[in-house]
Amino acid sequence: GMGALLAQQAAVESSLPPMISPLQPRLDRSMSSLTIPPPACMLRPLEVPFRYLFGPGPSNVPPRILAAGARPIIGHLHPEMYEIMNDIKKGIQYAFQTQNNMTIAMSGSGHAAMECAIFNTVEPGESVLVAVNGIWGERVAEIAERMGMLYALAKHKPVLFFLTHGESSAGLAHPVDGIGDLCRKHNTLFLVDTVASLGAAPIFMDQQNIDILYTGSQKALNAPPGTAPISFNERACQKMFTRKTKPVSYLLDMSHLSNYWGNDGKPARLYHHTGPVSGFFALRESLAILAETGLEESWKHHKEVAEYLWTGLEDLGLKLFIREKDLRLPSVTTIAIPQGYNWREILQYIMKHHQMEMTGGLGPSINMVIRVGLMGYNCQKRNADLALAALADALRNCKKSKA
Ligand SMILES: Cc1ncc(COP(=O)(O)O)c(C=O)c1O
Repeated sequence: GMGALLAQQAAVESSLPPMISPLQPRLDRSMSSLTIPPPACMLRPLEVPFRYLFGPGPSNVPPRILAAGARPIIGHLHPEMYEIMNDIKKGIQYAFQTQNNMTIAMSGSGHAAMECAIFNTVEPGESVLVAVNGIWGERVAEIAERMGMLYALAKHKPVLFFLTHGESSAGLAHPVDGIGDLCRKHNTLFLVDTVASLGAAPIFMDQQNIDILYTGSQKALNAPPGTAPISFNERACQKMFTRKTKPVSYLLDMSHLSNYWGNDGKPARLYHHTGPVSGFFALRESLAILAETGLEESWKHHKEVAEYLWTGLEDLGLKLFIREKDLRLPSVTTIAIPQGYNWREILQYIMKHHQMEMTGGLGPSINMVIRVGLMGYNCQKRNADLALAALADALRNCKKSKA
């Protein structure tokens, strides 16, 4: 009878997690049992102020790219999405000046590309060599340490050498020529970070023998934050696809990502994760603008506007942190904090009275510099004039502290 049936059911269910047992009394889950009411803030509309984003990123996004990101969503595995991803790949190959097949955009910010590069090419116990010319080298050294890698000089035979091309904390454009050849001689992969410099300062992935190159979406490309182009050459692929251990991250595993991006030669592109569809629309538009403008034109334009800004800053009596003009990063300018001023007060004044973001230093450059970035769409002489006027106003009105 019923009792036997229930006993049988109980026997089956004793092997299942107890939470689904129908023998437990069921609670009444009506609306009235909510203990957390709808938050008052959620009943107010979203408010986003207008800001001039003249710091080291993100930069203002032009209407055309915003509009691309606002297009209706399609599925991340629809054929039209694959077409858009193929276009993005072509756009990145142009921006990086590379023919590498293994070229994709990460679903994530610059840090995702940074970790993807290291997690996939380096195995625990191997050494990496990191050029610490600002905060980004420090950060990569920390990522490597977290993986239990040793990082040290030549005696460790590093499998990878990391260099930041556009060191946004220092405002430095690090020369790249020759380093790739040196790395090749030592059988070391050359990894370069161009998050803050791509589109603003020349980089030639293939010609400069860079094995892995990545950037971000939110600087000179002027897309919203959240996607990050990255490319691996044959040498890098050889290393990462013949490794003995699996990369520590499933999300960042290039054996999956290469399939998702149609780079592994297999006919089927399978589900790995749900890519940021709107972010990819916007990234495609930003790469299209760069292709229309032309890389050389973009580099020339950044240099001209940066030089205009530098002259204006010196006319205000300010000193540039990087003395040597050729080493200055055209996208992010570092100004030495003027004697006797409190840099926080200056930045707060400019935000309050000019709706303009500039920032202080980061990592090793904290308390040393104010950073002004004019990138991509923001890179215009009239914006340099606005930034100079805001700084001049702040210098007049932020009374010198007795430091
Ligand atoms: C040179 C450089 N590398 C890496 C990053 C990290 O990128 P994200 O903040 O997009 O993760 C930044 C961000 O400012 C950067 O300037």
